[in-house]
Amino acid sequence: MNVLGIETSCDETAASVVRDGRHVLSNVILSQIAQHAPYGGVVPEIAARSHVEYLPGVIEQAVAGAGLRWSDIDTVAVTYGPGLASSLLVGLSAAKALAQRLGRPLVAINHLEAHLYSIFLDPDLPGPNELCPLLVLLVSGGHSCLVRMTGLGEYQLLGQTVDDAAGEAFDKGATLLGLGYPGGPEVQRVSVAGDPTAVRFPRGRPTKPVPARSLRQAEEGGPRSSAREALDPNVCFSFSGLKTALLYYMRDHPDAALPDVAASYQEAIVDSLVDRTRRALNGDQCLAAVGGVALNARLRDRLGELAEDCGLRYLPAGRAYCTDNAAMIAGLAGAGRGVHGDAAMGIDARPNLGL
Ligand code: KG4
Ligand code: ZN
Repeated sequence: MNVLGIETSCDETAASVVRDGRHVLSNVILSQIAQHAPYGGVVPEIAARSHVEYLPGVIEQAVAGAGLRWSDIDTVAVTYGPGLASSLLVGLSAAKALAQRLGRPLVAINHLEAHLYSIFLDPDLPGPNELCPLLVLLVSGGHSCLVRMTGLGEYQLLGQTVDDAAGEAFDKGATLLGLGYPGGPEVQRVSVAGDPTAVRFPRGRPTKPVPARSLRQAEEGGPRSSAREALDPNVCFSFSGLKTALLYYMRDHPDAALPDVAASYQEAIVDSLVDRTRRALNGDQCLAAVGGVALNARLRDRLGELAEDCGLRYLPAGRAYCTDNAAMIAGLAGAGRGVHGDAAMGIDARPNLGL
């Protein structure tokens, strides 16, 4: 079954064709980084307008790049949340129109679940059910959480950030260091020549139980979780103190060597992520890392060491599937997940959709 996936939840315009949920035939990603860089972050109006302009061409490229014709597409899959409302709407409207025009079913996909699925886009791996229980560290520009997967569609949220996401910590830190956007790759580049022990930045951790809001559909005004659903603070993240510490350090040490400060800052983020991941492990078979920050070389190495120490199989997402992409959308739909049928055709964008 050939699934055409469409992803426009943030600032990547992406389309992909995946066969049978595992074989990626094409994976086209048009990044808008250059358009947002002057503003130091994603500008929603620019993102949505750019999706409108480029999505048709990106979809055509994905179909042609897969060596297929329109009639070979069996299903159209699209992200319906979470993400920027105006950006989600562009992809969702395009996907509905295309499904109708092709006379093919539409499947609406949860972006966070798709990130979790991104590790299975390697056709040489066994299926999800053979690799579970599996602990996944999901770290991107918008989310940081630890999820236990006990099967496809069975997820338990163990921990999450109480303030900034790990990617945001990289991006905001890079701004304070005078580096470009997006910050993660910049901080990594500068850190290579630095000493990660030069500055001891805080490794923040919440002290009180954390309400598990994103476990439910965390719509505005939606049900708040009860104390019973609170998360263990020992497996939760907090990056706002680290950012403040960097601000003060730069103010008090204007002549500090940039590579040392960047490497120390990166090390503090990575240490927090690895420490909470280690604490969250409990009877898991595999350890996985997904999302844009999972591209970080230091994090990939440190998680690999952790997996080895604990005798776990290590499954970092493939580099092409860490940042936002449509292969994970098409793959997850091909694996049978998502909202199908009339419900999909009538679905609205859900900017605050939880896992
Ligand atoms: O998954 P993604 O494309 O977008 C969201 O869904 O949020 O992740 C983007 C984030 C950005 O914050 C970016 O700085 C970070 O991933 N990132 C990195 C690296 N490459 C991208 N962070 C650390 N090291 C990297 N090499
Ligand atoms: Zn994402």
